[in-house]
Amino acid sequence: MASPKITALAEAHARLNKDLDELKKMSEAGAVEDRGEWLKKLRHLHKDLRQHFHFEEEDGYMADVQRLEPNRERIIHELAAEHQDLDQALLGMIESLEQNRATIAQTHAALHHWFQAMDRHEHKETGLIQEVFQRDYEAED
Ligand SMILES: [Fe+2]
Repeated sequence: MASPKITALAEAHARLNKDLDELKKMSEAGAVEDRGEWLKKLRHLHKDLRQHFHFEEEDGYMADVQRLEPNRERIIHELAAEHQDLDQALLGMIESLEQNRATIAQTHAALHHWFQAMDRHEHKETGLIQEVFQRDYEAED
């Protein structure tokens, strides 16, 4: 059985994943040429992404992992740095599109790389969270 902490994090992930799925579909369809539509979706994703990262950093798992397993400090720093990078990369895409410095095709390509980086980040993070909290939860039983 999953701990309540894992459940709460899974719910937060689900909200963000909904945004990501919408954008992936739009991106795969390849037919959307409307700059305004792209900007709307990217800004929405950026807002939810910031909330999600904030939740993970302030109320979520990072402080708990540090408390439970202080020796995992390096991976926590890496994950926090990745939050910063992912945030800035997405913001860069939005600004480039706003200022006509990027075409939709360029944004599309940048977003493809961004999705891959985000997937790698989530995978690494989920692995750490499950490992640490499940161990803690089992220890409490
Ligand atoms: Fe994260």
